[in-house]
Amino acid sequence: MKALIIYISVHHGNTERVAKVIANILDADLLQVEQADASMLEQYDLIGFGSGIYFGKHHKILLDFADRLPALRNKKAFIFSTSGLRKIPFIHNFDKPLKGKLQRKGFEIIGEFSCRGFDTYRATKLVGGINSGRPNAKDLKQAEDFARGLI
Ligand SMILES: Cc1cc2nc3c(=O)[nH]c(=O)nc-3n(C[C@H](O)[C@H](O)[C@H](O)COP(=O)(O)O)c2cc1C
Repeated sequence: MKALIIYISVHHGNTERVAKVIANILDADLLQVEQADASMLEQYDLIGFGSGIYFGKHHKILLDFADRLPALRNKKAFIFSTSGLRKIPFIHNFDKPLKGKLQRKGFEIIGEFSCRGFDTYRATKLVGGINSGRPNAKDLKQAEDFARGLI
């Protein structure tokens, strides 16, 4: 199984740390979304898409990339993220927009992973940020376990 991970990690590099441990387990190629091209996806069986969560969704650049993809067949995908706050159904259901876009392109989504990431946006800055040190060793271990579960 040939795997590719496409990610963007702009706030504190939190998602990049998760992307790297998952790539290591899957022996996957790792690309920042700006380096990725839709035509590359054809050579892979499994593609992971990840970013921090911004205004309740994955990063806009990643969502726009998903929009530009052609319709694909027989491709599996997983999505991952780091976020300041946890996922809450209906209120903060941040996987839904990216998942929907990928499904509409024909991907079968076989897994979703999320953990907290250091966040200094807005008021959180006043208290030195939230989730200091995260993703931490436990988060990265959970990311590795998630990746093993995909194989
Ligand atoms: C502009 C901005 C908007 C954010 N919006 C959210 C949000 O809606 N929900 C959330 O849980 N975290 C939010 N965060 C926190 C980030 O998702 C979190 O810090 C994440 O780990 C950043 O990942 P990165 O360092 O890989 O970019 C926001 C951060 C920034 C800077």
